[in-house]
Amino acid sequence: MATEQVVEQQHEDPTAYAGVLRFYELAKRAEWQVRDLPWGEIPPIPETKGAPQKVARRRDMWRSVITQQLQADELACEMASQLLNIAPDHEAKLYYSTMVQDESRHTEAWLRLSGEIGGTAERDPHLDTLAHMTLEADTLEEKVFQMQVFYERLIISRFRLIARSSRGTVLEDLCNRLTTDDGIHHGAGMAYEKVLLQNASKQTKQKLVDAANRLLPTFVEHALWRPKERAFIGRAMHARDIERLKEDLEIGVRLAESLGLDVSDVELPV
Ligand SMILES: [Fe+2]
Ligand SMILES: [Fe+2]
Repeated sequence: MATEQVVEQQHEDPTAYAGVLRFYELAKRAEWQVRDLPWGEIPPIPETKGAPQKVARRRDMWRSVITQQLQADELACEMASQLLNIAPDHEAKLYYSTMVQDESRHTEAWLRLSGEIGGTAERDPHLDTLAHMTLEADTLEEKVFQMQVFYERLIISRFRLIARSSRGTVLEDLCNRLTTDDGIHHGAGMAYEKVLLQNASKQTKQKLVDAANRLLPTFVEHALWRPKERAFIGRAMHARDIERLKEDLEIGVRLAESLGLDVSDVELPV
């Protein structure tokens, strides 16, 4: 579906949007500014002591971590603005107007952070493919499910992980803020998807599950991909990566079930 403008619509039951509106209020209260981050007061990323080679290698590793998150938030800007443009409901549009701001603020923060540590590294090609699958998905139900129900739920544990290994840095502070923001994005997506699926045909629901099934092999490639700067970690952590991937996919299935979708023919690739 292209980002064509749709005429604003009202749901027959106005209380159906109470959940979405609650997340709109939450998003307004949680709003922050890039200048609020402790720039210049604490180090941007963890400092390493030791041989120059080791210091350079650690810096490359952090640069690649930051590049992946920058890439994810640049893509999130496109997806959030597409949702703002195609959502037909007033309440959802109102909410998406805040999500567009959040994703663009996240991008700005990652850009500033990457600027502080000497630029960016290699992009994850599978993440680009995933984002394009979502941008080109046929229905709003599919897009909200993939972006907000699935990806924004999974990214939260990644932010927690990065924050834990970067104590006392700007990076940790940013990850903590993004944990909150993406918690709101995910919650809003769940609330809106419930409204959308209430009125969706069996066929629309089946299409959503089929699309999720088609996406899974690329999601696996994305989850197991490592740029060359982190290839050594990739090898060491392969078993842990597979475990985490399994957990992520199981969360996705549970979320789909909680939305009343029939996931009996979802084939988990791991
Ligand atoms: Fe974001
Ligand atoms: Fe987000």
